[in-house]
Amino acid sequence: MLFDSLQAGSVTLTNRMLMAPLTRARADAGHIPNALMAEYYAQRASAGLVITECTMIAENTSAFVSEPGIYNAAQVEAWKQTTSTVHAKGGRIFLQIWHAGRAAHPALNGGTPIVSSSAIALAGEAHTPEGKLPNAMPHALTEAEIAVIVQQFAQAAKNAIAAGFDGVEVHGANGYLIDQFLRDSANHRIDGYGGAIENRARFLFEVLTAVSAAIGSGRVGLRLSPLNSYNDMKDSDPLAWTEYLAEHLNRFNLAYLHVMRADFFGVQTGDVMPVARAHYKGVLIGNMGYSSDEAEAAISAGKLDAVAFGTGFLANPDFPARVKAGAAMNAPDASTFYTPGAKGYTDYPTL
Ligand code: PHB
Repeated sequence: MLFDSLQAGSVTLTNRMLMAPLTRARADAGHIPNALMAEYYAQRASAGLVITECTMIAENTSAFVSEPGIYNAAQVEAWKQTTSTVHAKGGRIFLQIWHAGRAAHPALNGGTPIVSSSAIALAGEAHTPEGKLPNAMPHALTEAEIAVIVQQFAQAAKNAIAAGFDGVEVHGANGYLIDQFLRDSANHRIDGYGGAIENRARFLFEVLTAVSAAIGSGRVGLRLSPLNSYNDMKDSDPLAWTEYLAEHLNRFNLAYLHVMRADFFGVQTGDVMPVARAHYKGVLIGNMGYSSDEAEAAISAGKLDAVAFGTGFLANPDFPARVKAGAAMNAPDASTFYTPGAKGYTDYPTL
């Protein structure tokens, strides 16, 4: 089953082992992707679908140093190296489009204030060029500001297609801006964007509507993380949350729904995948901690359509070939996940 093709919206995937989005922080100044990134992604082109690292939709929304962007012409031009080399190797690639919201920091963005659904700051400190600084207080977006960001998502999707991507994955997970609306620990609004999940989902649905109008819904995926507590996130009822979203995402006719099944820190637990499967009628991708054997069994049993592997692809550019051969896997080196240069990036050996 892992080696069966899969129709995901408008895109045909040659297998069901997808490369999960991974922040690697190797872009050049100005959030411009480069030749090293093109090499890294092309090495991994045998994935059924490569999903890129989170990519900024707007200037001055940086949360990490050296993440790429897709909001200006230089970035669009530079991404063509990645998309053309992945395509030349027979791969498919979606760009993950992302707004960090309160996880950005003014010190990374020329002093630009940060935004969120509500004026609630992240706990702890951010890594900035000035060293570690306390996370900043965001201001609660006005409705006019929300409308601007919805259009920035749509423009980013158009830019991604212009850069040669096969589609985009909207980043609705992990405590970034969309998730800051979706989950009730972060969203304390009392207008039409806050309160019940029907309202907390409004911003996401506006983004999906605008992005789909821009590039066609068959080229749009969505990633959600109902349980992940990363970035101070929690929802009071993750199973009901998952059910509501899975049910109401059907009408968008997306290429896929990509669900992270667990919590980076193991704090929040719950069996969210069966709920997603029961209510979502389209292509469902699972992620987080699947072995290839578990993935094969889950797909064979109809529990999922595909699985995204993060560290598997990070450390094994030829991950599908290794699965097929039953070969040993390289171990990922966490000390080089976010460091500059080729070490721990493009130097993992193939079989
Ligand atoms: C991370 O770099 O730690 C990171 C980035 C994006 C995510 C999650 C984690 O969605």
